Amino acid sequence: MRVFPGPEEAARGCALEIAGRLKEAVRERGRASLAVSGGSTPAMMFAELAGMGVDWSVVDLFWVDERAVGPEDQESNYGMTRRCLIDPAGIPSENVHRMMGEWDAVEAASAYSEELRAYFGGGMPRFDVVACGMGDDGHTASLFPGDGLVEDRRGLCAGVWVEAKKQWRITLLPAVLVNAGWLCVLACGAGKAAAMRRVWREEGPAVDVPARLLRGGEWFVDEAAAAFQL
Ligand code: 6PG
Repeated sequence: MRVFPGPEEAARGCALEIAGRLKEAVRERGRASLAVSGGSTPAMMFAELAGMGVDWSVVDLFWVDERAVGPEDQESNYGMTRRCLIDPAGIPSENVHRMMGEWDAVEAASAYSEELRAYFGGGMPRFDVVACGMGDDGHTASLFPGDGLVEDRRGLCAGVWVEAKKQWRITLLPAVLVNAGWLCVLACGAGKAAAMRRVWREEGPAVDVPARLLRGGEWFVDEAAAAFQL
């Protein structure tokens, strides 16, 4: 876990590491794949990442999750990513693999699973980088506390009704998240401290605190979120 003074520093630190990992993958294989999350924290990180010299012509961009809304909706993770990363970085449209939020969520998830199979070939998809966040309630991706999908170890992507948000979502499933070449979690603000404590100081099933699935990742947090350590 890397603790930074504030959210800006944590976002920059996370962006620097993502940029480095993507450049390394491009050096090794000539191409790289990145799956990103939504929410407010990633927006800050994307703005930093856009200007870090990644060759986006050979990076394929996917999503960890999406709200079941159209791309123009203010809730759209794709829309936020387009504003904060895709447009500023000039990521070619053919490299952008968005989840079809405007479709029926279950159908969109099925189509995304097929897209992942086509891109990665057989077996479990392995993104070079998966970038997750964590909600104040300990959710990650669109895997919320109490959702049986948190225990799923075979599926790739699912459409899910999130009662807490009164919203359909499309989300990658745990096996894809933890199969990442490099998995990172960016969590900032005092609102995250309670969930951080439940992830790092309490034992219990991941279904209670889905971000527990990501303990093997590298965490970038600010001092406010890390207050659980005091
Ligand atoms: C989403 C995200 C979600 C997010 C966390 C953190 O679609 O909401 O993918 O998992 O990463 O809720 O969001 P904040 O950064 O806004 O706290």
